[in-house]
Amino acid sequence: MAMIEMKDIVKIYNKGDANAFEALRGVSLTIESGEMVAIVGKSGAGKSTLLHIIACIDSYDEGEYYLDRELIRGRSDRELAEIRNEKLGLVMQDYALVDDFTAIENVLLPLDFARKRVKGRRKQAEEALAAVSMEEFRDKPVKKLSGGQKQRVAIARAIVNHPGMLLADEPTGALDSDTSAGIMKLLKDLNRKGMTIVIITHDMEVADLCSRKIEIGDGRLL
Ligand SMILES: Nc1ncnc2c1ncn2[C@@H]1O[C@H](COP(=O)(O)OP(=O)(O)O)[C@@H](O)[C@H]1O
Ligand SMILES: [Mg+2]
Repeated sequence: MAMIEMKDIVKIYNKGDANAFEALRGVSLTIESGEMVAIVGKSGAGKSTLLHIIACIDSYDEGEYYLDRELIRGRSDRELAEIRNEKLGLVMQDYALVDDFTAIENVLLPLDFARKRVKGRRKQAEEALAAVSMEEFRDKPVKKLSGGQKQRVAIARAIVNHPGMLLADEPTGALDSDTSAGIMKLLKDLNRKGMTIVIITHDMEVADLCSRKIEIGDGRLL
């Protein structure tokens, strides 16, 4: 079975209310392990909604979603958090870093769940920072870093638990084109090492660097 198997996924925000809105209208999607996929589409098309369901951050109303052979349905928040922590790395749209923390403190955050010795955790975080070429900024507060450097720290935090899949919502959206190219090179390198990667993007240059493009419009795949 593939890394991601979705069948007829429907997502309704504010279900049952007067302002109920069907953001996904029957999405079926397969992503194989080792792929690097771009999800493209206009603003409001449903890209983030789809990514949040893939990431087990949000639930769906109809259909079936299997992540790495596990049916993601009717799970408790705690179970979902465990699945995320074990299988997924997430890079959210606004980096979602703790600005007053240093780079390594941010990368250490997902490791607090794992019952591991402090020394082992530091080593693991240092390796993740080295993987994104940010080891020399280890002890710098994140608020003193540039946008591209923050994105590298966010990627280090996402990969520190060695997930099989990395999900990124507009990872280059706030970056200039040179910095964006550096981030894409980094993501490509991770993909070459075997990580499945799913990226939401508006940028066709970014999408063209992926091995497949999935286009979404008005809650449906086109
Ligand atoms: N929490 C929410 N409550 C109600 N409607 C939402 C919510 N989140 C997103 N939407 C709506 O669902 C649609 C898809 O949103 P989104 O997935 O964020 O699109 P995209 O990421 O492609 O811009 C939009 O019309 C948006 O207004
Ligand atoms: Mg979005």
